Amino acid sequence: QLMNQLLGFKEDEKKLASQLGIAHCMIVNGDCDQSSRVLDEMGKTLAQTLSTVLPEGQLTIAVMGGTTMARMADQMSYKVSAGRELTFVPARGGVGEAVAIQANSVAAAMAEATDSRYRVLYVPENVSAESYQPLLKEPAVQQVLQMIDNAQVVIHSIGDALVMAKRRSMAPEAISRLTAQQAVSETFGTFFDAEGRVIYKIPRIGLQIPDLDHIPYVFAVAGGRSKAKAIEAYMHNAPKHTWLITDIGAANSILTGE
Ligand code: F6P
Repeated sequence: QLMNQLLGFKEDEKKLASQLGIAHCMIVNGDCDQSSRVLDEMGKTLAQTLSTVLPEGQLTIAVMGGTTMARMADQMSYKVSAGRELTFVPARGGVGEAVAIQANSVAAAMAEATDSRYRVLYVPENVSAESYQPLLKEPAVQQVLQMIDNAQVVIHSIGDALVMAKRRSMAPEAISRLTAQQAVSETFGTFFDAEGRVIYKIPRIGLQIPDLDHIPYVFAVAGGRSKAKAIEAYMHNAPKHTWLITDIGAANSILTGE
């Protein structure tokens, strides 16, 4: 109740949360497909929400990559770290993104914006399993994996399945398989169809969706009408305590089914 008053939840936000079967939704004005400035509003809402709901003390925050997440970092501020000692870590090993939008970079940018610490996962992309496995035994890698395991907070985005498959230069056969099985959504390297059935998982180290159940604070940030289907599909699998921060473009499309 008090939280409702503090954060000022509106009717549509409650409706969206109940339709998606999650605890909280926050909807900002506009559609980030039309104007990327809407992402800044989502970023401000995220920063405000973090500073309101996170407990004080030491916290590890695991973050994913992507253009949305990179933009969220721009709106983080000291408010988020006031009374807290934060360490940002990437939630998963890289998934073939450009450097600026890798989870490592997002963790560093969020740490810088909040005057906090960060750790990175030095595990290269596109190497064979034989080269990859021994790296996992490196103490520096193990330490960060341990921190990811113990994170109390996760912030992630949700992507359109085919947009993400192409951005990661997945093999044409893999892309045709995703198309044939009508994949519409991707989160944490897992692809879903509209009903939320898992179609494919990119094998990588770090957080997996089932791990989110044990993490007390989970924030999903995704907006734009073009992501409405992706958001809905993922939410079939999201833990119930997820907070979704989105925009009117995505929210209206989900609420009206159009
Ligand atoms: O690749 C990391 C990731 O967080 C994906 O899990 C997600 O689907 C995607 O980025 C979202 O990217 P964007 O914000 O650029 O749409």
